[in-house]
Amino acid sequence: MLLSEVMDYTAKKFDLPKMEGISDESVKQHIGLYEGYVKNFNAIANKLVEYAKEGTDKNAIALGELIRRKSFEFDGMRLHEYYFEQFEGGSTPLTINGPLCKAFEKEYHGYFNEYLKAIGNMRGPGWAILYYDPVGKQFQAGFAGEQHQGHFVTLPVILALDVWEHAFILDHGASGKGKYIDAFFKNLNWSVIEKRFSEVA
Ligand SMILES: [Fe+2]
Repeated sequence: MLLSEVMDYTAKKFDLPKMEGISDESVKQHIGLYEGYVKNFNAIANKLVEYAKEGTDKNAIALGELIRRKSFEFDGMRLHEYYFEQFEGGSTPLTINGPLCKAFEKEYHGYFNEYLKAIGNMRGPGWAILYYDPVGKQFQAGFAGEQHQGHFVTLPVILALDVWEHAFILDHGASGKGKYIDAFFKNLNWSVIEKRFSEVA
């Protein structure tokens, strides 16, 4: 079995503003977790090449476990990039009567934020995610358990809300998920979300 050498991913730097309800210390720790996903993904990808070179039969069990973990680490990396980029540039409202606003009105009748908040408040670690389906020309909102389960295959991510405890426990306590989700929406730069939508709709 031949595998080419892997190209390591590099952790991105985010230019984050001071936020309301999400402290600098919480962001700092959260960025540290994000960088851990990048590091772990690179380590797994490189290890898989090493195992393949040694012969997949010899390392079959370890290979199986690492392959399972690979998408967990990758999705943790990429989703945090979607997440932090949404705050860059500072809190900016959704453009009234813009294309995204109109699409929300059509599908969610003005209740998009409440709908995503309800998904975010589901129990268990994971992500409330809004995707757009360019084929069906409609949104799909869902819950990705942890970060690698429950995705809609091929659909681009429009908005990603991290609802793992690490995102809110420092600022709001173990039962403070609702307060954190409110803070998340307050700090969103909707122009980032609008740009993502315009690229795929
Ligand atoms: Fe996170």
